[in-house]
Amino acid sequence: MKKSILLIVTCMVSLSLQASPEGDLQAYQRYFKNRLPNLSFEDMSNGMYNFSEDKRNQWLEIMEFPPYEMVLDEGKSILETPFANGKNYADCLDKGGIGIAHTYPRFDKKAGKVVTLIDAVNQCRTANGEKALKHNDSGMLALLSYLADTSRGKKIDVDVPNDPKALAAYEDGKRIYFTRRGTRDFGCYHCHWEASGMRIRGNELSPAIGQATHFPTYRSKWGSMGTIQRRYKGCMNNIGAVDIGIGSEAMNNLEYFHTYMSNGIPMNAPGTRF
Ligand code: HEC
Repeated sequence: MKKSILLIVTCMVSLSLQASPEGDLQAYQRYFKNRLPNLSFEDMSNGMYNFSEDKRNQWLEIMEFPPYEMVLDEGKSILETPFANGKNYADCLDKGGIGIAHTYPRFDKKAGKVVTLIDAVNQCRTANGEKALKHNDSGMLALLSYLADTSRGKKIDVDVPNDPKALAAYEDGKRIYFTRRGTRDFGCYHCHWEASGMRIRGNELSPAIGQATHFPTYRSKWGSMGTIQRRYKGCMNNIGAVDIGIGSEAMNNLEYFHTYMSNGIPMNAPGTRF
């Protein structure tokens, strides 16, 4: 009896030692391929519109003149407008900010934490004597939309380096993702894994894989662009949970893990959702 318990424990330890982001990703992709065999991973990035022809047609109509278009020029000019000290974003963002959005969130080894694209923009501002902007600042959203647009078509490529702190941040995001919370006692995976493709209160549920490819997104419900963390907050509140705070380390870790799940799928941001 004792021996078999020991064996189980040893197996569990060795399994958890073997767990790696790459191994996770393969397992997750297998899961969704089995669950939604008619969809490619690229299709999955179109979320709920895979499951309702009616909504898909409405969405395609909106996409003929997508509402995010109007902020792209504004974002481009913000990128190039000098700060008070004469420098601009292009001077301090990696590669001048062009074609980098699909590689965020990144792990900053020096700081020992996850940096989202918003954080990188704000670091750039404060290093140049400007105030940090909020996640829902319209200039921030226009800039993020333009930066995302310059990564359109590039495959999501979030790196979890072999660094204990990076792995811990990834694992923390994973733990948050798989933790039940709120008065409804749901985890993210209940809806976006186990019930993906099914309906809940008139909404078709999108699969977790592909969800991170199209942010910022213009939502008709919001009447504006919004970040992926705003969406996480909405889902947390909908299940009767206190959200974990937009911009917090925990939320950034969730974004790190959640975006990593979409690795390999082309960016189609900015996007549009109802
Ligand atoms: C009770 C079910 C439920 C739970 C639990 C839930 N969500 Fe959602 N979520 C929805 C619904 C409904 C939508 C809108 C339809 C869709 O796009 O899937 C949505 C949409 C989203 C979207 C936008 C998808 C897109 O294509 O733009 C993201 C991202 C998201 N949820 C993340 C999360 C995260 C992270 C969690 C855990 C904190 C979570 N959700 C928990 C129901 C849920």
